[in-house]
Amino acid sequence: MEMHSKITSLALFYLITLLLRSSSVSATEFVYNTNFNYSNIFLCGNSSIQSSILVLTNRSFFTINRAFYPYKIPTKDANSSALLPFATSFIFSIAPIKHFLTGHGFAFIFSPTRGLNGTTSSQYIGFLNFTNQGNPQNHAFGVEFDVRKNVEFNDINDNHVGIDINSLTSLTSHDAGYWGGKNDEEFKRLKLNNGVNYQVWIEFMDSQLNVRMAQAGRKRPKKPLISKNVNLLEVFLDQMYVGFCASTGLLMDTTRIMAWSYSNSNFSIGDALITTDLPSFVHQKGFFSGSRAPIIGLVVVCMILIGCVSLGFFILWRWIGKSEEDLEEWELEYWPHRINYQGIIAATSGFSEKKVIGVGGNGKVYKGVLQGEKVAVKRISHETEAGIREFLAEISSLGRLKHRNLVNFRGWCKREKGSFILVYDYMENGSLDKWIFERDHEDRKILTWEERIQVLKNVASGILYLHEGWEVKVLHRDIKSSNVLLDKDMNARLGDFGLARMHDHHGPVATTTKVIGTIGYIAPEVIKSGRSSTRSDVFGFGILVLEVVCGRRPIEEGKPGLIEWLMSLMEIDELHLGLDERLKAKGGCVIEEVERMIRLGLVCANSDPNVRPTMRQVVNMLEGEFEGNETEENSKGENLLEKIKSAATWDGTALAFSNLRHPTFDDLMFSSYSKTSRSNSNAIPESEIILEEGR
Ligand SMILES: *[C@@H]1O[C@H](CO)[C@@H](O)[C@H](O)[C@H]1NC(C)=O
Ligand SMILES: *[C@@H]1O[C@H](CO)[C@@H](O)[C@H](O)[C@H]1NC(C)=O
Ligand SMILES: *[C@@H]1O[C@H](CO)[C@@H](O)[C@H](O)[C@H]1NC(C)=O
Ligand SMILES: *[C@@H]1O[C@H](CO)[C@@H](O)[C@H](O)[C@H]1NC(C)=O
Ligand SMILES: *[C@@H]1O[C@H](CO)[C@@H](O)[C@H](O)[C@H]1NC(C)=O
Ligand SMILES: *[C@@H]1O[C@H](CO)[C@@H](O)[C@H](O)[C@H]1NC(C)=O
Ligand SMILES: *[C@@H]1O[C@H](CO)[C@@H](O)[C@H](O)[C@H]1NC(C)=O
Repeated sequence: MEMHSKITSLALFYLITLLLRSSSVSATEFVYNTNFNYSNIFLCGNSSIQSSILVLTNRSFFTINRAFYPYKIPTKDANSSALLPFATSFIFSIAPIKHFLTGHGFAFIFSPTRGLNGTTSSQYIGFLNFTNQGNPQNHAFGVEFDVRKNVEFNDINDNHVGIDINSLTSLTSHDAGYWGGKNDEEFKRLKLNNGVNYQVWIEFMDSQLNVRMAQAGRKRPKKPLISKNVNLLEVFLDQMYVGFCASTGLLMDTTRIMAWSYSNSNFSIGDALITTDLPSFVHQKGFFSGSRAPIIGLVVVCMILIGCVSLGFFILWRWIGKSEEDLEEWELEYWPHRINYQGIIAATSGFSEKKVIGVGGNGKVYKGVLQGEKVAVKRISHETEAGIREFLAEISSLGRLKHRNLVNFRGWCKREKGSFILVYDYMENGSLDKWIFERDHEDRKILTWEERIQVLKNVASGILYLHEGWEVKVLHRDIKSSNVLLDKDMNARLGDFGLARMHDHHGPVATTTKVIGTIGYIAPEVIKSGRSSTRSDVFGFGILVLEVVCGRRPIEEGKPGLIEWLMSLMEIDELHLGLDERLKAKGGCVIEEVERMIRLGLVCANSDPNVRPTMRQVVNMLEGEFEGNETEENSKGENLLEKIKSAATWDGTALAFSNLRHPTFDDLMFSSYSKTSRSNSNAIPESEIILEEGR
C-alpha cells in the first residue's frame, strides 16, 4: 500500500516537473514522500539528505540551512497577474540534541533567490539578515515555526507559528497547536521542539492565508490555527523559489522535513502525504516503549528507590551549603559564559577592599586573577532579575561580541537575588577620564594630540561595531570617558556596553541618580522620552570628542557648559581656543585639525538627533576615507548641496544661540581633509568658505 502510493506520487512528481519544464503551464504540483535526493531538491548551506529525509539543521553551531524545490514556480496568473492560489503540506520534526537547548526554528518560505545571500544564522533562521530585515525589496514570505522568543522581533513566546513578510517580526503569530474539542473551541498546545512529527497545512486563496498543524497521522483540523488576510501581490515576484530555511546558533537541534506536497489547484494535496510508518525522532523514554510489560513492575520499584535515594542526596547537597547556584531555565540559555562563584571569590580574595580598582554608580570593580589571567570583576548589587535578564538577552551571545575596541567580556555569575557579577579583561592603563582630567598626577604624562585622535578613532570603531557589526543592534547608552579604558598598549576599548539598560528598570530615566550622575552625556531626546537610540550614542560620542580635545568635562562648576562655551568661540571664529591648555602649551597641533575635531564633536552632540551623523559616517570621516565612498552614497551627495543651502535656516535654539549655525555633518564631509588641505595646513580651511556661503 505504501509502496503503491509512493510510486504514484513519484509518477506525479515526474509528470509535473516534465510538464513544467516543457511548457508554460501556470500551475505547479509536486509530492515528496520520504524520497528526497540530491537531484530532486536543491540544497544550500548545511542542509543535507539522510535516508531520503531532508535534514535542515544538524549538530553544528552557526549554520544556515536552506532547501528548495529545484525550479522557480509561477505565483501569478500569466494573463491577469492575479495571485495563484496554493496549498502546501509538510511533515516536520524538531528533535533536541542532548545537552543542548533547541534553536532557532525553521520556516516554509517563498524566496526570489535560492542562495544564502542576504541571510544569517541564529535568530535570522537563514531567512533574512540584520540589515535587510523589514525591507520590502526582500520579496520574502515565510511561515515560521519558532522555538525561541526573540524580543527584537516581538515574539510572543518560545513556541509559536507566525506569518513573516519581508521581516522576522511576524505579521501575526499564534502559540503552536490546534483547535479541537467540541465546536473546535478548545485550544490544544503542541510543543514544536520535542521531536514529534507534525503535519502542517498552509493554504492561500483570494488573499486569505490559513495555517493549520496537527500531530502527523491526525486529521487536518477544521478550524485554522492562523487565518489572516495578507497582501502578497507586491511581495511575490512572478516566479519564486519555494522551500524551507532553518539555522543554528549557539543553540541547535535537528530539524527534518519528511514529506512535502504543493499544488496550485488541488487543495487536498495534503492528503497525498503518507503519515504512517514515519521514523520517530522523539528521545527514547527507554523502558516503557515496546512490549516489556512484565518487567515494568520491577522497574517502577527500582525507579522509586533510586528516586528516594537521589532526593536524599539532593537535599543533603542543598543543605551542605548552596555551593552551586540554582539555574533558572532562562539562565541556561546563557550558560556558556557563566563563571563559577567560588572561582570569582578566589580570584578577588573574597572581594577584598584591597583589590578595589574602581567604584562606579552601580557597584565596585575589583582586580583579580582568573585562570592565570588578570581580570576586572564588576560586582553589581541591587539588580532586578528583569534587568539582568535583559542585559544578558541583549548581548546574548556575549562571548562572540568581540572587537579590539571593546573591553573583552569573559563571563557572568549570578549569586543570590539581586547580586550580579561581570568579568572583563583587565585594562592596564585604567580609564580615559583619569588621563584627561586628573591634573595632579606628576608621573602620568598627558596624552599627545595624536594619542587623543587615536583614542577617538578606537572608540568610534568600537561603537560602530556595537551598532552595525553585530547581528543585533547593541546600544551602549552610557558613552563617557570613564567608560573608555586603555590597555597596556594605550589602545582604547569601550567598556560597560549594554549595562546602562539595566537601569531603565529602576524607573523613569530622568529621576534616577544614575542618570543625573552622567548628565551632560545624555542626549536631550533621551531625557524627554527615555528612549535611547544609535543617535543618542552618537551624542555621547560627540561629548567625548569635545572632552578629549578640550580637556574639560561637559559640566564644570562655575564655568559655562562645554557646548555653550565652544559655540561662543565659534561665534568669534576662534574655535581652536577650545583646545586643552596643556596641549596648547606644548604646541605642535594643527589648528585646522583641532577645529575640525571640535566641529565633529559639535555635530555629533547636536540637540537635533536628525542632524547627527551615523557612527559609520563618523568612522569614515576619522579615517579620512569618505572621498572613496562618495559614489556609494551618491544620493547623499545630491542632497548635500541642498543641505548646505538650507543650513542657514537651521537654528540651534536648544543651545540658546539662535542666530548661530551649528555645523552639519555634511559641512564637515564637504570641508573634510581633502588631500590638498591635508598636505598644506596653511591653506584656508574650506569649512570657513562653506560657512560663509551658508549665512
Ligand atoms: C532522485 O529521486 C528520483 C525520484 O524522485 C529518482 O528518479 C532519481 O533516480 C533519484 N536520483 C538519485 C541520484 O538518486
Ligand atoms: C548529523 O550529525 C551526526 C553526528 O555528528 C552525524 O553522524 C550525522 O551524519 C549528521 N547528519 C547530517 C545530515 O549531517
Ligand atoms: C556549515 O558547517 C560548517 C561546519 O560546522 C561551517 O564551518 C560552515 O560555516 C557552515 N556553513 C553554513 C553556510 O552554515
Ligand atoms: C491568456 O491569454 C491568452 C491570449 O492572450 C488566451 O488565449 C488564454 O486563454 C488566456 N488564459 C487565461 C487563463 O485567461
Ligand atoms: C548578493 O546580493 C548582492 C545584491 O543584493 C549581489 O550584488 C551579489 O552579487 C550577490 N552575491 C551572490 C553570491 O549571489
Ligand atoms: C544582508 O544582506 C544584504 C544583501 O541582501 C547585504 O548587502 C548585507 O551586507 C547583509 N548584512 C549582513 C549584516 O550580513
Ligand atoms: C487532489 O490530491 C489528492 C491527494 O493526492 C487526490 O486524492 C485527489 O484525487 C486530487 N484531486 C484532484 C481533483 O486531482
